[in-house]
Amino acid sequence: MPAVRPGPGRPPQPPAVRTRPITSWPGCSPARPPRFYGDGVHAITVKSPGGPENLEWREVDDPPGPEAGEVAIDVVATAVNRADLMQRQGFYPPPPGASEIIGLECSGRIASLGPGVDGWTVGDEVCALLPGGGYATRVVVPAGQLLPVPAGVDLVTAGGLPEVTSTVYSNVFQRAGLADGETFLVHGGASGIGTVAIQAVRALRPKAFIATTAGTPDKLARCRELGADLAISYRDDDFVARVKDATVGRGADVILDNMGAKYLGRNVDVLAPDGRLVVIGLQGGIKAELNLSALLAKRGAVHAVSLRHRPAEQKAAIVAGVRAEIWPAIEVGSIRPIVDRVLPLPDAAEAHRIVESLGHVGKVLLRVPD
Ligand SMILES: NC(=O)c1ccc[n+]([C@@H]2O[C@H](COP(=O)([O-])OP(=O)(O)OC[C@H]3O[C@@H](n4cnc5c(N)ncnc54)[C@H](OP(=O)(O)O)[C@@H]3O)[C@@H](O)[C@H]2O)c1
Repeated sequence: MPAVRPGPGRPPQPPAVRTRPITSWPGCSPARPPRFYGDGVHAITVKSPGGPENLEWREVDDPPGPEAGEVAIDVVATAVNRADLMQRQGFYPPPPGASEIIGLECSGRIASLGPGVDGWTVGDEVCALLPGGGYATRVVVPAGQLLPVPAGVDLVTAGGLPEVTSTVYSNVFQRAGLADGETFLVHGGASGIGTVAIQAVRALRPKAFIATTAGTPDKLARCRELGADLAISYRDDDFVARVKDATVGRGADVILDNMGAKYLGRNVDVLAPDGRLVVIGLQGGIKAELNLSALLAKRGAVHAVSLRHRPAEQKAAIVAGVRAEIWPAIEVGSIRPIVDRVLPLPDAAEAHRIVESLGHVGKVLLRVPD
């Protein structure tokens, strides 16, 4: 049974799963999982909030819709995002109205169109930004959150593009307004987000100075290969001192931060005059003291943004911007999707263990079995 947790304004709901576990299927053995198509929608569900072992591949109810303006997608691939680990643990419930199933992005083929959807056809290969529901063989999404598969990218790889590209585009370019020639600091440069942020800034703001942090020599080297000018070990080095040294004391104009509370003070310290700090992750906690005096002197801004909780209209505008500005850079190879590995969707627990232990660079993808 999936975790169905009451959220703000949302009453407890019955689980959207049927009761037949995959192992009860005729002919099913752990050694040879059965084929899934033609036998109902299947999904990874959460038996109860906790560790990866609580993830279960089961038959579930068809998602409702598509309603007006929506499309249904037969999913081919999805990807693990850090938020998925929190949702699995019960700390990150989906926004009201969104699927309880984990999964913030997918690729696949359009299965059906709701009324009023223009520009897409049944059978089109697409990828999509989702508020949830990606770890399933069928998902329904507003048409405004669809993207074509970029030329030169295969359909499975495209399943890991919408969430990271939309997050980087909306926060670094739209919200923080990074200008060419400015200094950009992204924490966790080897992450799904970091690998795209480094490349996107290199592609769209070629004169920007890019600094990043990572945890191992191998990951620091990967960040440099992707375009970082300065790669700083967050274990052994002081990123405030290193960025200030590299910028003659000025600091970073834009910071994309995954750590939240743990880095707030140091991020404000290293912010340049008129700098913009955008907190998108809370891996280092949610509460910290903010030195307003330090911020005030620099005329600094602190933003904290969740893409998942933005209204559909805002997501559609972001996706349109991603299509216009990021997709061309992918199609000419200036931004390469960095895929650590691809696992079968029923092995989502293993994928969560890998991401939880930071054993990856870029994205871990989950592919629906043929
Ligand atoms: N707000 C939003 O809308 C939004 C959307 C997408 C993602 N996010 C957030 O963005 C972050 C990255 O997401 P993801 O899915 O790409 O994650 P991910 O691939 O799992 O990567 C997590 C990253 O955290 C880094 N890290 C761990 N401890 C660190 C420290 N002390 N200092 C600096 N970095 C540290 C890791 O670095 P090493 O691997 O080098 O050790 C790794 O690169 C997450 O916090 C996620 O919640 C937010």
